[in-house]
Order: sequence, then structure tokens, then C-alpha cells
Amino acid sequence: MHKSVQDIINMKKEKEKISVITSYDYTLASLCDKAGIDVMLVGDSAGMVMLGYENTIPVTMDQMIMFTEAVSRARNTSLLVSDLPFMSYQASIEDAITNSGKLIKAGADAVKLEGGSVMAETISAIVDVGIPVMGHIGLQPQTTMLSQGYKVQGKTKDTAMKLIADAKELEDAGVFSIALEMVSHEVAEIISESVSIPTIGIGSGVGCDGQVLVVQDLLGMYEKIKPKFAKRYMNLSEDIVNSLQDFKKDVQTGVFPAEENWFSMSDDELEKLREKIGS
Ligand code: KIV
Repeated sequence: MHKSVQDIINMKKEKEKISVITSYDYTLASLCDKAGIDVMLVGDSAGMVMLGYENTIPVTMDQMIMFTEAVSRARNTSLLVSDLPFMSYQASIEDAITNSGKLIKAGADAVKLEGGSVMAETISAIVDVGIPVMGHIGLQPQTTMLSQGYKVQGKTKDTAMKLIADAKELEDAGVFSIALEMVSHEVAEIISESVSIPTIGIGSGVGCDGQVLVVQDLLGMYEKIKPKFAKRYMNLSEDIVNSLQDFKKDVQTGVFPAEENWFSMSDDELEKLREKIGS
């Protein structure tokens, strides 16, 4: 049995911290699930780390469906949340419900969308049809990024007040959890204390109820951007490049493949073949 939305809500009540990791493909998702990660997030960050886009704007519903299906084949125990990509929910409530439904049919248990109070009505409508929603405030890569770039959110009294009000509105609209991206840690802590649903921080300090990292950042696989908030647990890109160089050398020198890597005919059949072809 995999974790439910209610299990994640209960973790906050039981003061148990929530681990969230982005997942986009079957192989890494299997390992995240095996490691006991509480929530796998098919983030639209896939656009950057899997598809090589500059930002998340070009990501399409079809791409998110494909990533969600791959991750859902791997998961046994984690909750699976998928991002609604840019312009799949902003134009109309009908779009938002239809596209949320597509991600659920692809295997997600819940969807995540970016935006504060402006998204409250949309969120209520999605929740009303029975689809759990995770909110996302603070830095919103689909929009804040366009106007402000990568900037810490909630550093002044007024911006902090707006974030706190947004969090409360999202809770009232029915989200089961809220991602807080690059929010000053003081404000993230105040929000976490003032809502009853779990907050999941990324670059928002230890006061959040859980933490999310992009799996490529954690494993040291994505070299283009190295955010200050992302702890690297290993330097996999170095190991991968070294292994690929070793492979190339082995191919060039004939060290690979060796006998244990190939398949043989029986001596008898080989003899018959030689006779047939006269060699
Ligand atoms: O797309 C993503 O990876 C995200 C997380 C960083 C929260 O939204």
C-alpha cells in the first residue's frame, strides 16, 4: 500500500518530518521508492533536468503525462504528486480540472500548481471534483521567475504578510500541503505554524514540516545550476564521466568485452558450421 494524502497530513500532526524528492523516470523513481521517500514529486523541473530547457515554461501536458506514467510504474510506497505545467491551469477552471484529471489517469495521487490567492478558486474547483492539490508559493518558477529572477521571497514585512495570507487562502481553498520555495526561513516558520496542513520547503529553512530536493541536485548530476539550498549527497556526475571514460578506453584497447560478457556456440555446432562454410 502506498502513502495517502491523509498519511502526509497526519505526519505533521505527529511531528514527523516529510521527505519529498522529485522523480521523472522509472529507474531513479524505483530507488526513491525503495529508500522510503514519503512523496515523489513529478516536478515540471523535468523540463530543465531531463529535457534541457532553460526554464519550466516550455513543459507540456504530454511530457508531464509521460513522466508521471514512468514514475507511477516504479512506485510502491510513496505518495505521487505531479506538477501542472505552465498554462495548463491558468486560462480557465475547465482547463485546470481537465488537465488535473489527465495527471491522475497517468498515475498521480495529487497535483501541484503554483500561485497564491489568485489560484484559490481554481484550487477549490479541482478539490471539489475529488483531486487533492498541493499549493506552491514563494518563488514560482513559472511566473515569479519571469519578472524577478531567482530571488528570495518574503524578505520585507509587506511581502511576508502577503505570503502568510496566501498560505491561509490556499488552506481555506482545500490544499493538503503547500510547497514554499525560497521563502526567508523566518516567514516559512511562521507560515508552518499558522496552517494545519504540512509545508514542504525548498530553500526555506528548517521550520517547514518537510523538505523537497530535485533528485539531480541531491545526487550531484545537474551541473548547469547549483543552488545554495541544495545539499549534494554525492558527486555522481564525476563518477558517471569517469565510468564512461573507462568504458571508452576498454573498447579502444579490447579489454571490453571479455569472455564473461559474450555468448558461445557448442564446439560441435561450430565444427559443423566451419565444415559448411569451408573454413
Ligand atoms: O518542479 C519542481 O521540481 C518543484 C519543486 C522544486 C518544488 O516544483
